[in-house]
Amino acid sequence: MYVSENLGTNEKGHLTIGGIDTVSLAEEYGTPLYVMDEQMIRKNLRRFHESMQKYYDNKGLVCYASKAFSCLEMCRIVASEGDGLDAVSIGELYTAVKAGFPMEKVGFHGNNKTDEELRYALECGVGHIIVDNISELHRLEAIAKEMGKKPEIMFRIKPGIDAHTHNFVKTGQIDSKFGFALETGEALEAVREAIACENVALCGLHCHIGSQIFDIAPFEEAARVMLKFIAEIKNELNFEIKQLNLGGGFGIKYLESHDPAPFETYMERVSKVVKSCCEEYKIAQPFILIEPGRSIAAPAGITLYTVGARKEIPNIRTYVSIDGGMCDNPRYILYQSEYEAIVANKANEERSERVTIAGKCCESGDLIGENMPLQHAESGDIIAVCATGAYNYSMSSNYNRIQKPAVVFVNEGESRVVIKRESLEDIIRNDL
Ligand code: LLP
Repeated sequence: MYVSENLGTNEKGHLTIGGIDTVSLAEEYGTPLYVMDEQMIRKNLRRFHESMQKYYDNKGLVCYASKAFSCLEMCRIVASEGDGLDAVSIGELYTAVKAGFPMEKVGFHGNNKTDEELRYALECGVGHIIVDNISELHRLEAIAKEMGKKPEIMFRIKPGIDAHTHNFVKTGQIDSKFGFALETGEALEAVREAIACENVALCGLHCHIGSQIFDIAPFEEAARVMLKFIAEIKNELNFEIKQLNLGGGFGIKYLESHDPAPFETYMERVSKVVKSCCEEYKIAQPFILIEPGRSIAAPAGITLYTVGARKEIPNIRTYVSIDGGMCDNPRYILYQSEYEAIVANKANEERSERVTIAGKCCESGDLIGENMPLQHAESGDIIAVCATGAYNYSMSSNYNRIQKPAVVFVNEGESRVVIKRESLEDIIRNDL
């Protein structure tokens, strides 16, 4: 009935998450409120690493992409499941360090890492750094020498596959700010240079073809392209690439009509491609890393809001205004992303209306969605927006000096705050 399987309805007709009444959560912690189901986060992580075990003989590592949602408790949960982490800034690295995350299981990303970030990554002993461009290689080589370290690195490669939509196209050379190009020979040249570097150790290659991808074919194609390149490196430079990082991007269900391929099928099919390419090219099977973000965190979360004003504009639309908006969920204003919404205290009633859910920011485009099916919502009702566990808190802002909401985790019938709601003092914390 709902897009995420952890949502249900109780005897009061209230929406539940992980079996807990969302209306009670709104009363206890206030709104807006991000709520995440810990069991579902764990279950999602396990689906990934168990299918890696099953289909790729456990020769791989799942690195949760913490840009989707990062905080101390999230890092602790990922660590306790034995998975790795993909961090994309010094702030995400710092969070992992402070959570006691095993840093050898962390990959450090970024298309424009600063020297400060590279130094910090080496200091905290990250497992590998995914180098994006040649100037980064040079800077890292110099910093590593100065610090007396020899970090393992991977190169980010543009595999020439554009899979940002449900379809994918293979283009000669994609326009992207990320990574080294294959077609021009840039990537091979960089590999040649890295092999000659004394202070970095090239261990792998990385690619990431987009996000919210429903089909498996583009992932298979990316794996083929990468393995072909690994074979080329072996033949041309007599060098063995031992690790292949295939990135993240697995789609999730935001709407009933969405139909992403199950991750198990992805792993089964991509493993087959990897194994058969290795046979064909006569290369050893690489250790595989993957970096799911959205598919771990998004389905586990919802956001709860309280309805304020309702404005019916005859023959045009009905606005239902909530106490949050683009400051806690900027995905509609950025991408026109669609969500399912439910009036949590009327969850058993039919979604009989089509409304625009509007935020409270001083901006016309501040909407959660338009033409959304919803139960009749009135002032004081609680609205739940589903599948907001990824790229909501992590992309939130203080626009209009609005405080960021709290994040509450539910687990086995209990709830706990994992990120406090910002206070008014927090709003002026850095002001002098
Ligand atoms: N690895 C790399 C190198 C990435 O750039 C990303 C996402 C991921 C892994 C994780 O991808 P996921 O499994 O979460 O799709 N803010 C956008 C999404 C941006 C994704 C950026 N990179 C949104 O809200 O839809």
